[in-house]
Amino acid sequence: MNWRALFKPSTKYSIAALLIVGIVIGVIGYFATQQTLHATSTDEFCMTCHSNHSLKDEVLASPHGGNEFGMVVQCQDCHLPHGPVDYLVKKIIVSKDLYGYLTIDNFNTQEWLDENRKEQADLALKYFHDNDSANCRHCHSRIEENQPESMSRMAKTMHSRNAAKDPEERKTCVDCHKGVAHPYPKN
Ligand code: HEC
Ligand code: HEC
Ligand code: HEC
Ligand code: HEC
Repeated sequence: MNWRALFKPSTKYSIAALLIVGIVIGVIGYFATQQTLHATSTDEFCMTCHSNHSLKDEVLASPHGGNEFGMVVQCQDCHLPHGPVDYLVKKIIVSKDLYGYLTIDNFNTQEWLDENRKEQADLALKYFHDNDSANCRHCHSRIEENQPESMSRMAKTMHSRNAAKDPEERKTCVDCHKGVAHPYPKN
């Protein structure tokens, strides 16, 4: 193989043809990745590593699993971002969990979760802080304005007051609403 030939313009194929082939491979690659990522985002996938943790039962027992609409909110609805790029970035961060899974002693036991609940909860909360609870807002889009008639007076007052504050002082959803899917540990 003559390596220098790699850097010379191709004589056999036109640049345009090579470009098209490149784009096609790129597009196929993009969709293949998306497919794999979506397959890895179901509750079942999350529960492969967290199978001995009470997380799924907790969701089912919460307003996000046992509400009047019969809608069970999926792990990914709350824990993974929506945009394709953000999604990839978070996936790559999550993949540190694979390392954790292999290296943390007794990780997949309820005892481990009970002991480490506070620390894990705060790690999870950091994500909601960093994106101003974007996942919550995705479903709850009428919190700060255009509030539904049915919303309690107390909720309306708290939400509108908070929305009127300067951005630095404004609280994000999870500052006031902890433990909406899992019991938030007291200490
Ligand atoms: C490969 C195994 C594995 C899979 C699959 C997995 N997790 Fe985890 N998860 C872990 C481990 C290990 C930790 C503890 C990480 C640590 O403390 O370093 C963890 C911690 C967490 C935390 C708390 C810490 C944080 O950074 O937020 C959340 C939330 C979480 N997982 C949600 C999920 C969701 C949602 C899914 C499905 C999209 C999922 N996990 C799939 C292994 C896994
Ligand atoms: C996939 C959509 C979805 C996502 C994501 C979501 N929720 Fe909900 N939420 C619901 C549904 C459906 C209900 C039950 C009906 C209702 O009370 O409005 C609910 C109920 C609630 C309630 C009322 C609880 C009660 O005691 O009645 C609060 C508070 C809440 N969600 C906060 C949050 C927060 C905070 C987040 C983000 C961490 C979030 N939600 C993410 C759909 C969602
Ligand atoms: C400053 C604190 C605060 C912030 C920030 C806040 N809430 Fe609330 N929220 C409350 C209070 C207080 C109530 C009324 C008591 C309750 O239902 O827990 C409430 C009620 C609710 C309810 C039930 C409303 C009803 O009566 O139907 C939902 C859903 C909700 N909040 C979602 C959210 C979401 C999503 C966000 C972020 C966009 C958010 N909240 C931000 C304090 C807050
Ligand atoms: C309605 C949104 C919502 C859903 C659905 C949800 N979570 Fe969470 N999760 C949160 C929030 C918010 C926290 C941060 C701690 C808190 O407020 O309880 C959290 C915390 C966690 C933690 C850290 C430990 C803890 O209990 O705090 C793990 C692990 C986790 N979630 C995994 C999952 C898995 C797995 C699923 C699906 C079976 C799931 N979550 C479904 C919102 C959600």
